[in-house]
Amino acid sequence: MYLDQEDERILAGKQGETKAKMLELLVALGKVFGAERLVPIRSAQVSGASYKTIGEYGLQWLSSLDAKAVVPAVLNPIGMPRERWEEMGVDPDFARKQQAVVAAYERLGIGLECTCTPYYLHETSYGDHLAWSESSAVSYANSVIGARTNREGGPGALAAALIGKTPCYGLHHAENRKPQVIVRVQADTRDWSIAHYGALGYHTGKLVGNRIPFFSGLNPDSDRLKALGAAMAATGAVALYHVEGITPEALKVPFELSGLEIITVESEEIEKLFKVLPVDAVAVGCPHCSPDELATIARLLNGRIVTKPLYVFVAQGVINTNLKTVDSIEKSGARVFADTCMVVSPVMEKYSAIMVNSGKALAYVPDMCGAMARIGTIEECIAVATG
Ligand code: F3S
Repeated sequence: MYLDQEDERILAGKQGETKAKMLELLVALGKVFGAERLVPIRSAQVSGASYKTIGEYGLQWLSSLDAKAVVPAVLNPIGMPRERWEEMGVDPDFARKQQAVVAAYERLGIGLECTCTPYYLHETSYGDHLAWSESSAVSYANSVIGARTNREGGPGALAAALIGKTPCYGLHHAENRKPQVIVRVQADTRDWSIAHYGALGYHTGKLVGNRIPFFSGLNPDSDRLKALGAAMAATGAVALYHVEGITPEALKVPFELSGLEIITVESEEIEKLFKVLPVDAVAVGCPHCSPDELATIARLLNGRIVTKPLYVFVAQGVINTNLKTVDSIEKSGARVFADTCMVVSPVMEKYSAIMVNSGKALAYVPDMCGAMARIGTIEECIAVATG
């Protein structure tokens, strides 16, 4: 694997032991995956941030590192809001450990925006090379923006943030980004909600596995694409998809589709996922809400009071630029929390059934929170929360 002079100096320990170890990790990863070189990255997004998932061992490892990120980098959602954890009902012992994890990342120069939607905060453009780890963020970056990132593990993304490069293999190469299976959606999708796209991703992820799907028959906006990709990455291992006439590579790259397997999805297969189930909480914002999604929630809640806990998850940076909307949502009794989500926060484990508008949350809530999950449109979620 080709390394330049600066890389050789880092490997020789001239910039400290941590950077030498981190570069060794990137080189080892590159060798495993057949990379011939490293590629400079525009940004990193680092998973392994919730104490619920990394535990004491992870915290000790992070605390042993000593270097600074050299590119913009953010964290994945953590187990609690950094500011309002008491209000969310987080156990003080968990909070202390989570704060130690955050402090360890801060010392490493990782930005403390804890979000799976870094693309709302840091400009990310077509063709950018990235080292992102959260699966929905990876899917959005590759598919909706046309940037290039593999799905990095937490240590690989952290190493890339500290070195500013990542091994160039997989989805960093144009030839590995071609469609591998066609998905024909045979339904009238003109009125499909964000939740319908999440449900489509939930269903399709199981069918396509880790292949790159090429969808036809869809007309989604960016929030619907976000929901589709997040769910496909949860029930499958889809890190990139294309939508005919919509996503940037489907528009710019002349893909050869002949000979690919064709999977057909019918409307009824999606509608049957919308089962009615009594729930004791409602949680939206998976992936974290966009400004438009926040505005929709505020409009639907206007003049209403919640009768069940309603959680809205969003990046702090999006809260900061939408303060009036957030205030208006919270007047209903709903709570808008940054930095965390219904899957990574231990607080959600106290509920027995949770309603969501996300195919990804539908997939993860049962295992990660020990609760049953029901999917509905945002209108249905608000109706249940205020009913
Ligand atoms: Fe983001 Fe949590 Fe969903 S990390 S994609 S809100 S499971």
